[in-house]
Amino acid sequence: MQRVFSGIQPTGIPHLGNYLGAIRNWVKLQSDHDCIFCLVDMHSITMPWSPEELRQQTLGSAACLLAAGIEPTRLYNQSAVSAHARLGWIFNCVARLGWLNRMTQFKDKAGKNRENHSAGLYVYPNLMAADILAFHATRIPVGDDQKQHIELANDIAQKFNHDMGVDFFPEIEAFIPPAAARVMSLRDGSKKMSKSDPSEQSRIVLTDTADEIALKIRRAKTDPEPLPSEIDGLAERPEARNLVTIYAAMSETTPEAILQQFGGEGFGQFKSALTDLLVAKLAPVATETQHLLKNKDHLISVLRTGAEHARSISEPIVQEAEKLVGFIR
Ligand code: TYM
Repeated sequence: MQRVFSGIQPTGIPHLGNYLGAIRNWVKLQSDHDCIFCLVDMHSITMPWSPEELRQQTLGSAACLLAAGIEPTRLYNQSAVSAHARLGWIFNCVARLGWLNRMTQFKDKAGKNRENHSAGLYVYPNLMAADILAFHATRIPVGDDQKQHIELANDIAQKFNHDMGVDFFPEIEAFIPPAAARVMSLRDGSKKMSKSDPSEQSRIVLTDTADEIALKIRRAKTDPEPLPSEIDGLAERPEARNLVTIYAAMSETTPEAILQQFGGEGFGQFKSALTDLLVAKLAPVATETQHLLKNKDHLISVLRTGAEHARSISEPIVQEAEKLVGFIR
């Protein structure tokens, strides 16, 4: 059975982009893959953080993922399994600075003020490669924004294999959904929906109430034209395209089918139908998340069990990698 690994930063409640780009596919893959899902708390401290918020958000994200259908034994937090840090260090010594300099995420996050960011943010992709390769996972369900990181992980694996003269780390494959791989902000169709956007109106999070969803969709930026009947009509209309994409992905159909239904109409009726759809699909997740959050001890024990499972797979692999580089074990 093919092994699947994926991760999410517990830096806030997962949003609709995380759900459509990643989480929903994680849930589906569980039926016929050996899946491991990780709350990457070590990645979350590559940007400034508050320890108390990190604790709360790790539990909040765990609750959300379980509520969305992730199997409890498959879920853990990264820092609880030492294989990540150990292999991450080895990869810091395998990856080349030139490779890291090409990473667009570092450029986006660091902006003009590079000197003032943590070294951790710079080597973020090496830790991400370690996350995956510590499990010899081969299929990585992610949104479109992680593609470059997956390519780098393959470069690292190849260089490791070449330098050590072995065929130890497998080639990995990004598993990107055909639709909604990049859900955009509700306020600006040129920006990705993101946890770090200062405007809460820019994203729908999985714990939003029906009223919050309705308000955010009502306020979502659109344009004055009615919806087109053909897909080409969305080419220059990023906000309209984003809402149609969300509608199609949530109802598991195509944007073309949605336009057949709503083409020629204004946004009023479309937005109201989209709200109903989102509420119907997301409200059960929000209710179950709130329920799970009432028992934090249970959530902690779920993560501990998941960590044991993750350790049992990654420990022999990372020990072997340590032997290959010449560490005495
Ligand atoms: P993170 O926490 O930013 O996002 C988690 C997952 O959600 C996807 N995603 C989106 N998909 C569609 N539209 C969006 N607007 C959107 N925003 C986020 C992301 O592509 C991702 O799949 N570096 C990773 C976490 C990570 C990881 C890993 C992933 C660490 N180690 C190993 C896979 C394998 C990240 O920051 O994801």
